Amino acid sequence: MSVNKEVKRITTHILQEMKNRGEKIAMLTAYDYSMAAIVDNAGMDIILVGDSASNVMAGHETTLPITLDQMIYHASSVVRAAKRALVVVDLPFGSYQGNSKEALSSAIRIMKESGAHAVKLEGGVEIAESISRILTAGIPVMGHLGLTPQSIYKFGTYTVRAKEEAEATKLKEDALKLQELGCFGVVLEKIPAKLAKQVTESLIIPTIGIGAGQNCDGQVLVVHDMLGINKGFKPRFLRQYSNLFDVMNDAIQTYVGDVKAKSFPNEKEGY
Ligand code: KIV
Repeated sequence: MSVNKEVKRITTHILQEMKNRGEKIAMLTAYDYSMAAIVDNAGMDIILVGDSASNVMAGHETTLPITLDQMIYHASSVVRAAKRALVVVDLPFGSYQGNSKEALSSAIRIMKESGAHAVKLEGGVEIAESISRILTAGIPVMGHLGLTPQSIYKFGTYTVRAKEEAEATKLKEDALKLQELGCFGVVLEKIPAKLAKQVTESLIIPTIGIGAGQNCDGQVLVVHDMLGINKGFKPRFLRQYSNLFDVMNDAIQTYVGDVKAKSFPNEKEGY
């Protein structure tokens, strides 16, 4: 399907209209200006400045170490490149769990200092007060349920969540709560496809899945994973659209060879 590049800027209202008419929503991460420019130009609906920057950009094992200042740095670079996509930024671990005042001040810093369009928080009913307070300030909020990587040390593993009935029931209640509070959408990460379908059908607002099957209203992936820049990461839900690690490695090896062989630069490549 071709992308409507006439749309000036995707808004939360446009995303709702997309769900209403059954048009799927495309979302990818980006963390820097150059990648965001490519992602935006390709017709992305939402660019997520995910706290996965902690893994992908900084090489940490988890998303926990990244700071609010670092997220703002990544987000402002992405915002400068995004002409069409809605830019959503993760509130990092430790910047909203304390209390709703802290959550609001973190969200305000992101919006004010990066120019982003919305924030995303992990969790359900436990963070309802914080979500409410952020929404009251006029900041659009996206929820995130299922495998919430900021809780990795509680879960102990990155395996599929909500396979058991009790956790699935809580997830359904959390999703309805996020909608009732006024979230414009919710990410469902690594949950059974059947459960994601039930949640998607029970909500008016869009669901965006990652490892959550075909029936979500949209899909999100980490851009470095789907481009094959992260060579080792190959979970079942990931479709790898390119093999940029090898493509880039070949180009860089050729450059090294050319420098060593004194064939770069040639006469025409100088002044
Ligand atoms: O940080 C991130 O990249 C995310 C997506 C995996 C949804 O939250």
